[in-house]
Amino acid sequence: MKKKKKNKVLIIHGPNLHLLGKRETGIYGKFTLKALEKILQVKAKELKLDYESFQSNSEGEIVDKITKNEYDFLIINPAAYTHTSVAIRDALLGVQKPAIEVHISNIYRREDFRRKSLVSDTVIGVISGLGKYSYLLALDAASFFLREKKN
Ligand code: DQA
Repeated sequence: MKKKKKNKVLIIHGPNLHLLGKRETGIYGKFTLKALEKILQVKAKELKLDYESFQSNSEGEIVDKITKNEYDFLIINPAAYTHTSVAIRDALLGVQKPAIEVHISNIYRREDFRRKSLVSDTVIGVISGLGKYSYLLALDAASFFLREKKN
């Protein structure tokens, strides 16, 4: 029997998230990107999702990854580009794939410039301020929406 194709979720981690564990730990926590990835991979397996993750500090590379369009659902923490990148916004609008914006910190509790996201109105929803749990919730939601689409 032919194996049914799994639902592919792509997680994009934006600039400076490779520094997790060392970077402003009072805000972002002490967990590393590697540790976060491990947890997310286990969770994706439980949810029977096909999973890929990508970290880049480069706006152009993130645009390329989004517009390659090789996924069914996108979870993205655009990090600092959340607040500045028309290019990432346009890429998300261009591919029209279901997506969730994720932040480790609560961007609405921080400096004024972080309260504005150029991404939020292009995605299904935003999860902000729950630490690594923001990503776990996003994976749950991705699984829910992918299943719902099939029914
Ligand atoms: C962040 C919030 C952004 O304002 C910041 O530039 C980041 C991380 C978060 O996950 O809380 O790099 O996206």
